[in-house]
Formats: sequence, structure tokens, C-alpha cells
Amino acid sequence: MPPKIKTSYFCQNCGYQSPKWLGKCPSCENWNTFVEEIIQKEQPEKGSWKTSTSQKVAFKPIALEAVELAQDERIVTPDKELNRVLGGGIVPGSLILIGGEPGIGKSTLMLQIALQMQNYKVLYVSGEESLQQIKMRAERLPFKNSNCYLLTETSTQNIFKQVEIFEPDILVIDSIQTLQSAFVESAVGSVSQVRECTAELMKFAKESRTPVFIIGHITKEGTLAGPKVLEHMVDAVLTFEGDRHLVYRILRANKNRFGSTSELGIYEMLSNGLREVSNPSEILLTQREEPISGIAIGATLEGNRPLLIEIQSLVSITNYGTPQRSSTGFDQKRLNMLLAVLEKRGGYRLGSQDVFLNITGGLKIEDPAIDLAVCTSIISSYQDTIIPNNICFAAEVGLGGEIRAIQKVEQRISEAEKLGFQAIYVSKYNLKSINTENFKIEIRAAAKLEGIFEQLFG
Ligand code: TYD
Ligand code: MG
Repeated sequence: MPPKIKTSYFCQNCGYQSPKWLGKCPSCENWNTFVEEIIQKEQPEKGSWKTSTSQKVAFKPIALEAVELAQDERIVTPDKELNRVLGGGIVPGSLILIGGEPGIGKSTLMLQIALQMQNYKVLYVSGEESLQQIKMRAERLPFKNSNCYLLTETSTQNIFKQVEIFEPDILVIDSIQTLQSAFVESAVGSVSQVRECTAELMKFAKESRTPVFIIGHITKEGTLAGPKVLEHMVDAVLTFEGDRHLVYRILRANKNRFGSTSELGIYEMLSNGLREVSNPSEILLTQREEPISGIAIGATLEGNRPLLIEIQSLVSITNYGTPQRSSTGFDQKRLNMLLAVLEKRGGYRLGSQDVFLNITGGLKIEDPAIDLAVCTSIISSYQDTIIPNNICFAAEVGLGGEIRAIQKVEQRISEAEKLGFQAIYVSKYNLKSINTENFKIEIRAAAKLEGIFEQLFG
């Protein structure tokens, strides 16, 4: 009699396991995400990355005091943005997940990093593309590295066989959803497969102290096993985001066991690969010959990095019954709130106007410090009055129309000064914490929206 196959149901979004099918996942609350998967074959050696049992490393408990700290042994890559996001370079033996939507540029990023690592032997394993396709991509990039090797393989056991012979310094897996372990019978890309393959790679990384990058696709519908399943297993989760139709890409750390998660790397997708953007404000601000109304510059912070961004508004009379409100890169609810504040406290009749708001460069900003720039940009368009292009804003707006203090205001002021702005509007309540003598830029403090509008729009 054949052995009975054990199965279980897994949520394809978060990996929650249930003995029976459920319509709604009790963990992540998504609907219709459960898929039946075979749990395991009868294999005594489940999850081993080494091919022979004799080589297995036996772990013994060790006193915490006896553990030696290896100082400063991070691998500093030539890619400054990646170093920044990882907290100063790659930690040996770390498992790093690079997640992002298909087509955003994950393979390009990893291939160009592999090509830049001159003195390291890098093994780039692809289960998605043929050698020719990868070669074609590499031809577009301005880097050459004779130490970069390719392998097209999807079985983890075969990959580990090659790795044992080849002994790479860095391993790149493109992508985790194409890998398959012989120890699990479920389909490629299913939660059990993805989890098992990641566990094997984790063991490999820790035992051999080789850093491993794994690329994982995130789809909006969560049809492929979402990298969410892996988040708790890996050391760092970096997401690569941006609008596919715009050139900017942002690399963000969502989790990092070896550094902060507030850092951010910015790249520009060019025809010859990704270019590091070291001074993002300069490119986010449009250079234009003639100033137009509806534009205001806000000083925001992404991680610890100050960024000056351009906010564009278009306010026009509503042709149909209900006015439209639409925003790109800014929370729609917050926009509605600010419109209500402008209507009630400022007396502007926006109820009969369509309002469109756009943050240029494809960025999504959640920082409340751009509220004031959003408000001034809307009124600038409504009144059709230009805001001088050498002024910027950094303050939150409260429900009473009051200008509220924000965090790390000095950093924002210095960035504005560095970029040649003449004046910056901040909250009066921030003044206490600023040493105004340090700055050459004019700091205009305000307590109420009305005061600012009077100065700007008369
Ligand atoms: P890719 O790295 O294949 O994305 P992912 O691995 O995340 O699915 O990148 C795909 C896009 O990048 C594709 O639309 C073409 C574009 N691209 C450039 O614009 N310039 C380049 O130099 C390269 C290699 C790709
Ligand atoms: Mg790819």
C-alpha cells in the first residue's frame, strides 16, 4: 500500500497553515488565499543543504561571553545606495530578500551589483531567464567582471552541489519562486516550496558565512507565494519600488537585523542600467523656464535623508454634480481633510472645484510635514497665483488651520539652504529648537494658515 500523503492548507499570502480550507485567512484577513499543499515526502534528511550527511555541522550550545565578535567585516560594495540601505555593507552569512513587482528592475539591480563586485566570486543563479537573456542584459550595463558566474538551475539540491564545488563569495538567487526542493512535493512557487527553499538557503548562508541575496516577486493579488511568508526567516527585507513608467526606483529596508530600517536608496533607470542618485532633491525639482501656479516645494524626510519634493495641484470648476478629488503619491483621506480645513478655516470655496494633486517623481509621501506645501499648492492653483520658486515649506497643518511643529526640522532647513532656496516656512513652535544663527536661509515662522496665505497670495 502506498504511504498516505499528508496535506494541509496554506494561505498564499502570509503562509498561515490550516488543516481545512478556509475562505478568509484568520491571520492576514485576505479572502480566497488558501491552497492545498502536500506537506512532505518521507525523507530523513529534510532540509539539508549539504549533499552528504557526514559533512553536517553539529551545533552545540556556546556561552554568550565566549562568542567572538567579528569587527568591521562587512563587505562594502561599490554601490553606495545599497551600502546605505544595508547599514554599511553586506554582513557575511546574511540572507537578504529583495522584493518587488515584476518588471521593476530587481534582476537588473542584482546583476549590476554582481558585475561591480570586482574582487569577489559571485554566482548568479537564475531560474527565470536563459543564459542568453542574462548576457543580453549584461551587455547593456557599463560594468565588466570576469569573476561573475551564471547558472541556470531551479533545483536547490543541484544548486548546492554546484556551490560546494564552486565556493562563491556571494550567491544571488533569481528568483525564490522558481526554486524547487526535492524534499517538498508542492508546486513550484507555493508557500511550502518557497519556505523550504529559503530555509535551506538560510542554513547554507549561516554555515558557510556566504551572503545570499534572494529575489522575490510581490504581486498585488498575492497569487504567487508572497515574500511575506519569508519575512521572519531572512535577515533583511529590501523592497524595490517605484512606478514602472517613471524612471525613479527606491530601495527601502523593511527589515534589517544589522542596521536601521529608515534608510533609503534612490536609483534612476536608464537605458544602460540603474544609476545611483546621490542628490535626489536636484532631480525631483523640475527646472522650468517660466514659473506656473499650483506648484509648491515641500521639505520631507525619507529615512534620515532630507528630500525636497515638488507638489503640483490643479483646481478647476466642477462640471458635474460631485467634485472630483484625486491624488497621486499622497493619501487621499489626508487631502480631503486638508481641503476641509482650507474651506472652513480659510474660507476658500473648494466645494465646487475639482482638485487634482500630484507628487512628482512617482514618490509616495506619508510625512505630515508636507501638509503646508500641499495647502499652499492648492490655493496657488485656485487663485492662479504663482509661489516664487525660491520658497519651500516644512510644517504640518492641524484641523484648526494651525501650523504644527514637525520632527528634525533643522535637517530639512539645511537641505533647502544647500539647494539655494531663499526662504522656508516652518511652524512657530519649531523655532525653539532651531538655532537660527546657523542658517543663512530666511526662516519664516507662522502659527496660522491665514498669515502665510496673506503673505503669498495677498
Ligand atoms: P528587470 O530587472 O528584468 O525587472 P525584474 O527582475 O524586477 O522583473 O527589469 C525590467 C525592466 O528594466 C525592463 O522593462 C527593461 C528595463 N531596463 C532598462 O530600462 N534599462 C536597462 O539597462 C535594463 C537592463 C533594463
Ligand atoms: Mg527578473
